[in-house]
Amino acid sequence: MWKKKILEIVKEFKHPAWGISHFNRIYDLSLELAKAQNFDVDADSLYAAAFLHDIGAFEPFIQKGKDHSDVAVEICDEILNSIEFPSEKIPLVKEIIKSHMFYAKLGESFESKIFHDADTLDFMGTIGITRILSIVGIDDWTPDLRSAIKLLERFSNDLPQSLITDKAQEIGKLRKKEMEEFLKNLANQTNHFESI
Ligand SMILES: [Fe+2]
Ligand SMILES: [Fe+2]
Repeated sequence: MWKKKILEIVKEFKHPAWGISHFNRIYDLSLELAKAQNFDVDADSLYAAAFLHDIGAFEPFIQKGKDHSDVAVEICDEILNSIEFPSEKIPLVKEIIKSHMFYAKLGESFESKIFHDADTLDFMGTIGITRILSIVGIDDWTPDLRSAIKLLERFSNDLPQSLITDKAQEIGKLRKKEMEEFLKNLANQTNHFESI
């Protein structure tokens, strides 16, 4: 069955912020958002997108100067065909992947909207903080702790505006609060980040 084969392909993708646990979380969250919004969505396409959307951020697929979403769109055809994923669903999987990032232009489908929201929400709240702190020193986004704190401040301010669906906005409010609380406590304990 193609689901098993996808898991087989991605099982080597170990990363604290965008590995398999992230894929699982946003698949589950996408379905939760779809249910809350009463959106009729294709779970197969969401599953395939969840496990392949960040594949362009992993070796041997990384292409310098090209967004990981675009790389994933380019290579997912071959992967999905090789595991006998229903071919009529591939265009939707590509649309979901193409528009998954918070900075991306949104796709038309319900699936794109909820997936974009789920991926964005995973950058917010306690889980978002955990993920960003986990990549300090190992990703260009966060060369050091101070840059990670700046990024968390930016995400807390900006990401709520990227959320499309009502349910995601509701969850986003709570997650923004968690980030603000964390940043406030950290500022208090580090002389406004001077001693971090
Ligand atoms: Fe991504
Ligand atoms: Fe992601």
